[in-house]
Amino acid sequence: MANMLIVYSTTDGHTPRICERLRAVIEAQGQHRVTVMPVADCTVEDLARCDSVVIGASIRYGKHHPRVAEFIARHQSALDSRPNALFSVNVVARKPGKDVPEGNPYLQKFLRRIAWKPRLLAVFAGRIDYPSLGFLDRNMIRFIMLITKGPTDPNGVFEFTDWAKVEAFGAELARM
Ligand SMILES: Cc1cc2nc3c(=O)[nH]c(=O)nc-3n(C[C@H](O)[C@H](O)[C@H](O)COP(=O)(O)O)c2cc1C
Repeated sequence: MANMLIVYSTTDGHTPRICERLRAVIEAQGQHRVTVMPVADCTVEDLARCDSVVIGASIRYGKHHPRVAEFIARHQSALDSRPNALFSVNVVARKPGKDVPEGNPYLQKFLRRIAWKPRLLAVFAGRIDYPSLGFLDRNMIRFIMLITKGPTDPNGVFEFTDWAKVEAFGAELARM
C-alpha cells in the first residue's frame, strides 16, 4: 500500500468535502492509504512519510490563502521528489471555459506566482451557503453573483461542484 497525503486550505469547509470524496475514490482502487489534513497541520514528517502528495485550496476574494504558497515554497523539494498534484476550488469554475486548469484565472495566476510545477492540475466549482455567511461577505458575494449572472437568493445554498469530475480526478490521482 502506498501512502497518499492530501492537504487542504479552506474557509467554509467545502474543500475538505472534495478531499474526502477523492479519498473514497482513491482508497476504493485498493492501492493507496490516504491521509487528509489541513495544510496548517502538515509537518515535514508527514511529508516524509507519504509517497505522493496533493494540495487543494479554495479561493476567497480572488486569492488562495497565503499559507498555501508558503507551504509550497517551504516544501518544494519534498513535493518535487514524489508524484504530486494541485487543485483549486472557486465559483468562477462554474462557468464553461473557466472549469479547466488552463482557463481558470485564479489557478493560472497562482501557477505564475509559485516555482512548483504540479504534475496534475484540477479546478472544481465550489459552494455558496448564503445563510452561513456574515452580512458583509453574503452581500459581497451576492453582488459578484449579480454581475456574473449567478444566484443571489440570500436564503439559498448553491452547490456548483461537479462530483463526477471530482471522482474522475480521484481515479487519475490513483494512477499517478
Ligand atoms: C467571502 C467569500 C469570498 C469568495 N470569493 C471568491 C472569488 O473571489 N472568486 C471565486 O471564484 N469564488 C469566490 N468564493 C467562492 C468560494 O471559493 C467557494 O465558496 C468555495 O466553495 C469555498 O471553499 P471552502 O469552503 O473550502 O473555503 C468566495 C466565497 C466567499 C464566502
